[in-house]
Order: sequence, then C-alpha cells, then structure tokens
Amino acid sequence: MEIRLNTTSLTELETDCLVIGVSEDTSVEGRAKELDTLIADCLDSGDFKPKSGSQITLRKPQGLKAKRVVLLGLGKADAFDALAQNDAFVGLGKTLKGLPVTEATLDLTSLTQGHAGTLERLGYGLQWASYEYTTTKPKPADSEAKELNILSLIGSESEKKHFETGLTIGEGANLTRELGNLPGNTCTPRYLADQAVHLAERFPKLSCEVFDEDAMAEIGMHCLLSVSHGSDEPARFIILKYQGAKDATAKPKVLVGKGVTFDTGGISLKPGAGMDEMKFDMCGAATVMGCMQSICDMNLEANVIGVIAAVENMPSGAATKPGDVVTTLAGKTVEILNTDAEGRLVLCDALTYVERFDPEAVVDIATLTGACLIALGKHNTGLLSTDDALADELFQLGKETGDPCWRLPIEAPYQKLLDSNFADMANIGGRDAGTITAACFLSRFTESYRWAHLDIAGTAWFSGGKAKGATGRPVPLLVNWLRA
Ligand code: BES
Ligand code: MN
Ligand code: ZN
Repeated sequence: MEIRLNTTSLTELETDCLVIGVSEDTSVEGRAKELDTLIADCLDSGDFKPKSGSQITLRKPQGLKAKRVVLLGLGKADAFDALAQNDAFVGLGKTLKGLPVTEATLDLTSLTQGHAGTLERLGYGLQWASYEYTTTKPKPADSEAKELNILSLIGSESEKKHFETGLTIGEGANLTRELGNLPGNTCTPRYLADQAVHLAERFPKLSCEVFDEDAMAEIGMHCLLSVSHGSDEPARFIILKYQGAKDATAKPKVLVGKGVTFDTGGISLKPGAGMDEMKFDMCGAATVMGCMQSICDMNLEANVIGVIAAVENMPSGAATKPGDVVTTLAGKTVEILNTDAEGRLVLCDALTYVERFDPEAVVDIATLTGACLIALGKHNTGLLSTDDALADELFQLGKETGDPCWRLPIEAPYQKLLDSNFADMANIGGRDAGTITAACFLSRFTESYRWAHLDIAGTAWFSGGKAKGATGRPVPLLVNWLRA
C-alpha cells in the first residue's frame, strides 16, 4: 500500500473516498463550510448518529470534488478509548475494503486529533481489516473486489509516521493470524521453523537457529520432547535473535511462545466437539513471530529474543502416558498426570533455556488453560507474574493499546496443589484455579529473572461461527512492551 501526504483543501480534493471523523461533542474548527453543512444535514435528518463506530457513506456529496464521503462516528471524546478506537477503525477498514475504490483519503485531524496512539490504532485497524484468509480458500475467480492500494493522508509528516507504525503492528498481527489460521496439516513444527528461518532471511538484524529433536535431547529438554513422543511430526525449538540496540551487550527482552501445532490432548484425549480449534494452540508461537516481524519493520533500537517451542500433541503407542515421569532441562522431575496439560511441559524447558541470555525480562505467551477462558472470557488475556512492576507495566500497556490483560495471583498456597508422590512436581493441580496452578508450574522454572506469563486461551482466536479465526492478540500489547 502506498501512503501519501496530501495538503489539498477538503473541498478541492479529488479522491474516490474521503473519510472524516465526527465526534459527539466537538464541532471541528476550521473545517470547510461545505463539509459542516453536509455533516449537519446528516445529523439533523437523523440519518447519522455519531456514536462510536457508526458510519454513513455518501455518494457525490454536494460542494465537494470527492466521489464519496464516509463519516465515521467517534462517540464522546473521553469515551473514545483505545478499545473503542480499535473497533471503530477496524469497522472503517471493512467498509473501505467493501467499496469499489483503489484509493482513499483520510482526514487525520478529525479522525485522531493528532494523538500518536490514536494514529497508530487507525493504521492498525485498517491493516487488521485488510487481512483475509485465502491460503486454502481462495477468493472466487470472478471476484470484482478492488484492492485499496493508495491511501492519502491529510496531516503532517509526523502524523504519517505514527500511522505507518500502526500499519506495521497490524502487519505483524496479520502474520500471527495467518499462522494461527493455517490448518494443522500445514502448520507443523517444521513449518513454523521454516517460517522463522525465512523471516530472519528478510532482516539483517534478525538471525534464526533451529534445534531438531536430537539437538534438544542432547542438552536435556526431555520434558518438551515427551509431548512430542506420540507424534510423527518431529518437534522443533526455534530461537530468533534481534540485535537492534546501539549497545550490542544490552540485556535482551525475551518472548517465549507455546507452539503446539495441534493439541489432541494426547492419551488424555480431548472430546471431539470443537477439537479443530486446537490448531490455534500455537498462537503463542505465532505471536512471537508477529512481534519479531513488527520490531524488524520498525527497526527497533533494542535487543529482543523470541523463542518458540513447537510440537504436536498426539496419542499413539509411543505417546507419553499418565503417570509417566520425565526430567526437565532444569533437572527437576515431573509426573505427567494428564497429557493434555502439555503446554507447561514444553514451556518449562524453553523457560530454562532462556536463562542463558541473561534477560532483562521474559514474557511467555500461551494458549495454556481452558480455565482462563472461564475466568476472564474473551476480553482479557490472563496475566500472571512474580514481578509486580512487570505485571503493572503490562496491565497498563494493555489498557492503553486496547489489548487488555487482567492479573491473577501466583501465591504459595496454590503451589502445594502441584505436589506429587513420585516426582518433584505433578503437571496438574486438580480442578481448582487451573490458570493459576499452570502459572505456578511455570514459575518454578523462572526464578533467575523477571518474568510474566500471558494466558491467551480466551483472546487468541474467535471461536465457532462465521468469525472463527485468529485475532492477532496480544501483538499490540507486546510490541508496545518491547518498545517501552
Ligand atoms: N491448549 C489447551 C488449553 C485450551 C483449551 C485453550 C481450550 C483454549 C481452549 C491446553 O493444552 C489444555 O488442554 N489445558 C488443559 C489443562 C488441564 C488438563 C489441567 C485444560 O485447560 O483443560
Ligand atoms: Mn492440552
Ligand atoms: Zn494445549
């Protein structure tokens, strides 16, 4: 997509589609009279109410040279927060996508009031809306949909920069969505590794290393490997290193993603209904990929490492069984009471491995527990941490970016639920507090650094129905954390 700046007055502007923001409580100063008349007419007639996200498309508007005007409602200024912005701008993107235009013009002042974050979310929302899954379901050949490929912005050079940053974050999220949406018979651990290698080939500051099962066995990642035993697809451990800091020795922030490319539950087999959605069980890994692409595109001045533990969880004669005991990379033993609690088994070895990077902080991202969906629904990502400052930072950033997370505790009394008679710990803690006991398990492998865990079981994808598909969350939250 080509992005241009345009300084022509709104009435003289020749464009296929002009987009103007209309808020409930401010009349826009300095706007052309012709436009004020047009907007007033839409409001007075009752055709348009400027509620957040509402829209009206006008053809051949009087007094303007634009072929169309789209008015986007922004609601009341103080209620138009990051969440509302994301919704409204994604909605706008869908409208633009549906119009037979290849070019459109955005009036940044009325849409964003020049706020950096709002400009970013405008770019993000349009980019998000432009994504469509076509890899195994191509668009019909006779589709006449025109692609929007030129966006003109009425605004300043610095406003354009913020808008483009948003496009970049949106592109990262769209990569995350595409990887998530791909079926399990395409997106295998080896496929994820190949994609990581290709990503690194595109950016000089990014490098990639991939361990096969022999390499993992050699260093002792037996807990991770135990998940993979039942699968014909070999596991991969993927390390993406981004060197962007001026000081090459600056401590890196580290992301660790759960990459279970399909989770049948293993011998503790899941029920059949909805099991297809367990192809999304690699959305943590996909988030790592999306974030790495975004920071590369932004040329971020920081050191960041992304690590992905990629496995397929299958039942077979070779699969790990309930009651089996395995030894982790950290040397601790785990009694696997339920083979469906596999995410923590792959993450614990990855979390031990990243100690060697002497990280500034580590955040893992995982579709870890169905219990998180029960506790927080599909709105908030679960946030669990042994570091209050890190937890506060992520909570705040989530709120500011419209990609929210909500903290649950990690406390000693919950740790006891993981006691085992036959190993240092069990991999499950019973029915109670499932999201917390999963994080308690992970916390035993993160003692040497600052760490937070994001449980994205509820937020990584939309379930069932027409909207089924990956969301790209929490890419916005994490890119903003990496930038902070
Ligand atoms: N990938 C699932 C978690 C999940 C389930 C995410 C449904 C989103 C929707 C994870 O591997 C899992 O199976 N967890 C178990 C843990 C239990 C056995 C302690 C769960 O949540 O049921
Ligand atoms: Mn599972
Ligand atoms: Zn899983």
